[in-house]
Amino acid sequence: MVIKTETALGRFVAKTRELFAQEPDLAKRWEKLTPILSELLADPEVQRSSKQWPDCVVKDGRAENLLFYEDPDYGFAVNGLTKLPNIHGRIHDHAHIYTLYGVLDGTETIERYKRLDDGSKPDYAEVQLDGSFVVGPGDVDLVPPHQIHTEQSGEERTVAVIIRSEKSGGFLQGRYEPDTNRYYQGYGPRQTPTEM
Ligand SMILES: [Fe+2]
Repeated sequence: MVIKTETALGRFVAKTRELFAQEPDLAKRWEKLTPILSELLADPEVQRSSKQWPDCVVKDGRAENLLFYEDPDYGFAVNGLTKLPNIHGRIHDHAHIYTLYGVLDGTETIERYKRLDDGSKPDYAEVQLDGSFVVGPGDVDLVPPHQIHTEQSGEERTVAVIIRSEKSGGFLQGRYEPDTNRYYQGYGPRQTPTEM
């Protein structure tokens, strides 16, 4: 496979493939991917073009991600996400995949939750807020498999580049409603092929 390295995305993909070929341990692999994503976020070309990325729209209860790239061998996906100000996402997990969430523009408050019950009761989950922090331009948050969290955009439009170990949308992810302890599943973001 020939990867074009004259664009920031091409360079990112080449470095990521090299890392994936060298590092079989998933936890280490995703830790090591963080600085490679930081480089992509710092690229002036990416920052400039992100101003033109289309608005992502929630439709039929499903979020939307821009899909810039999906790797034919390793399966990882490069997504873009644009978000209006003051959007409070629902509490969810990303099922079995690893996610690196990199902020390009704006700020987001990320809340992490821990699960208190043992998961044996269907459609039921007790979750409790376990911490929250604010991320801004250049910050990268690593979301391991099954971690329960939510993201809330701040006062301005938020733009993020998201790297996932597998393209989302084709498998079920958990959703949590702490007020009623309801747990249910739904498909992740719709994937809209877009030029970075
Ligand atoms: Fe998420």
